[in-house]
Amino acid sequence: MALHFTNLYFPLSVLIIICLYVNSTLAGKAHNFYPLFKVDADGSIHRYQEIKYVPPSYNHKTVVQSKDVNILPEQNVSARLYLPKISGKNQKIPLLLYIHGGGFCVQSAFSPMYDSYLHKLTAEANVIAVSIDYRLAPEHPIPSCYDDSWAVMKWVEQRTDPWLKEHADFSRVYLAGDSAGANIAHNMMVRASEESHFLPSLVGMVLVDPYFGNDKPDTLWTYLCPKTTGIYDPRFNPAVHPRLLSKLNCSKILVCTAGKDFLRDRAWTYYETVRKSGWKGEVGIKEIQGEGHVFHLFNQTSEKANVLMKSLIEFLV
Ligand SMILES: *[C@@H]1O[C@H](CO)[C@@H](O)[C@H](O)[C@H]1NC(C)=O
Ligand SMILES: *[C@@H]1O[C@H](CO)[C@@H](O)[C@H](O)[C@H]1NC(C)=O
Ligand SMILES: *[C@@H]1O[C@H](CO)[C@@H](O)[C@H](O)[C@H]1NC(C)=O
Repeated sequence: MALHFTNLYFPLSVLIIICLYVNSTLAGKAHNFYPLFKVDADGSIHRYQEIKYVPPSYNHKTVVQSKDVNILPEQNVSARLYLPKISGKNQKIPLLLYIHGGGFCVQSAFSPMYDSYLHKLTAEANVIAVSIDYRLAPEHPIPSCYDDSWAVMKWVEQRTDPWLKEHADFSRVYLAGDSAGANIAHNMMVRASEESHFLPSLVGMVLVDPYFGNDKPDTLWTYLCPKTTGIYDPRFNPAVHPRLLSKLNCSKILVCTAGKDFLRDRAWTYYETVRKSGWKGEVGIKEIQGEGHVFHLFNQTSEKANVLMKSLIEFLV
């Protein structure tokens, strides 16, 4: 009788342990990525700052106008286009594809910070800009940001938009981005270089304070990109893949960083690796001393923000 009882009791206890384990797995774990967002155990996501929206506009002083284009309506992928003052009817000016930063998970092409930055950049560099609005992680895990940005680039290639058709010089197309946007810009250049059918001629790329990690484990990237292969993922740490860098199909690259940027070292590593990779183009680096990560976006009229802006303008001319 006693034997019979233990025989029953044993599988029951195993079952209880399994139930407890499954339960704890399903309930999930809370995550806190202050100051970006947190995720509760029930999976709900809270951002510490709401993503503000400013409408497109016309600036009387600079004569820059902007408008929004919905590119993949089902996926909410869109772009804000900026057109500076055009002097002649048939004047063609360089086209800049810009990708905003924000750790892949905050900010937007329509936020006050990026809208004012793009207005300023368009006016001062005299370029048409397409500021890409991609879906954010963690709701849309990486690689959504890459796929969305690529969809916008394919849309640009079709030249259906009248501003682009009339005023963009498709032999002078540039890619640029800051922080996570610089990471995406780099990855777009990789894709464009792999796809021989991509028609706009990408002349150059500017990576401002690129987010390629640093030498510490990166829990944000790992959380936002669940299928990452880890710290050697070429999308995250391209400098460990010099062969990939040697094949970038553009003729010049500018890397910008700031002396106190916590991501500064990988910006330098990217620059050094491209330089030594046998890549045929011209690569440069600009470091602004005494400033931190994307300082130029927080005070866009500061003296050092203007120094950085000048480097971008020189590069785009
Ligand atoms: C679409 O994107 C915009 C801008 O990023 C955002 O304000 C809006 O809430 C999004 N809409 C949906 C349905 O996700
Ligand atoms: C870049 O792409 C163009 C057009 O596909 C091609 O003709 C050219 O050989 C490529 N250059 C490099 C360096 O890959
Ligand atoms: C931005 O920089 C300018 C010029 O250096 C300075 O006068 C101004 O006080 C700064 N604004 C803020 C909000 O820090």
